[in-house]
Amino acid sequence: MSLQRKRTVILISGRGSNMAALIDAAADPAFPAEIVGVISDKANAPGLGIAASRGIATKVVTRAEHASKEAHDEAIATALDTFGAEIVALAGYMRLLTTGFVETWQGRMINIHPALLPSFKGLDTHQRALDAGIRVHGCTVHFVTPEMDDGPIIAQAAVPVLIDDDEPTLSARVLKAEHRLYPLALKLFAEGKVRMEGSRTAFSGFSDSIGTDEIVSPHPARDEIDLEQLARITP
Ligand code: GRF
Repeated sequence: MSLQRKRTVILISGRGSNMAALIDAAADPAFPAEIVGVISDKANAPGLGIAASRGIATKVVTRAEHASKEAHDEAIATALDTFGAEIVALAGYMRLLTTGFVETWQGRMINIHPALLPSFKGLDTHQRALDAGIRVHGCTVHFVTPEMDDGPIIAQAAVPVLIDDDEPTLSARVLKAEHRLYPLALKLFAEGKVRMEGSRTAFSGFSDSIGTDEIVSPHPARDEIDLEQLARITP
């Protein structure tokens, strides 16, 4: 096979369930990204054990070991170079990265956020969604830019907010969608079907066969907006 898989490193701080979803997807040799390492800023992140059990190299780079935020990010940059990273995937990495680091990786670094951006940037998205009374919630994969949760959107998945939902039920429903969306978005990025162009995401090479309808709504090749589809659970 001539497939050049993109060397991808995942940054985590905690549980690592999205990381596990990416590792599982990339276990398929036909997947266009290969997970070559996991870096955590927390030595006790449960995700580290999950990565190790899947045979993925891990590295801990804590903030406490470094004199400044800049020095911490420089150490992460060095670790990324050592892994030979081509793509960085943030998966529950709970620290804001310095502008210099982000600019170095801009267009090659993606993140998953548990809300339909640009709504509900930041933390506690599910409780804030419940408090706002919205009926449709979801998650977003986007390119990382210096402004928090602000970069060009690659893909979104929507889930309904049910009348009886509380934070645990709603976050569980969104998390399930995250675990499907993030591998799909990484696949699109790694195979060159999405790229960051200025402040926008450019899409190319789409065909119905890759299931665009499931992850990008409305379909980029059609004009009409299918409201019924937008309101359904996607993917
Ligand atoms: C996810 O909800 C993700 O969207 C957000 O942080 C959470 C991380 O969960 N950025 P996990 O570590 O992937 O389980």
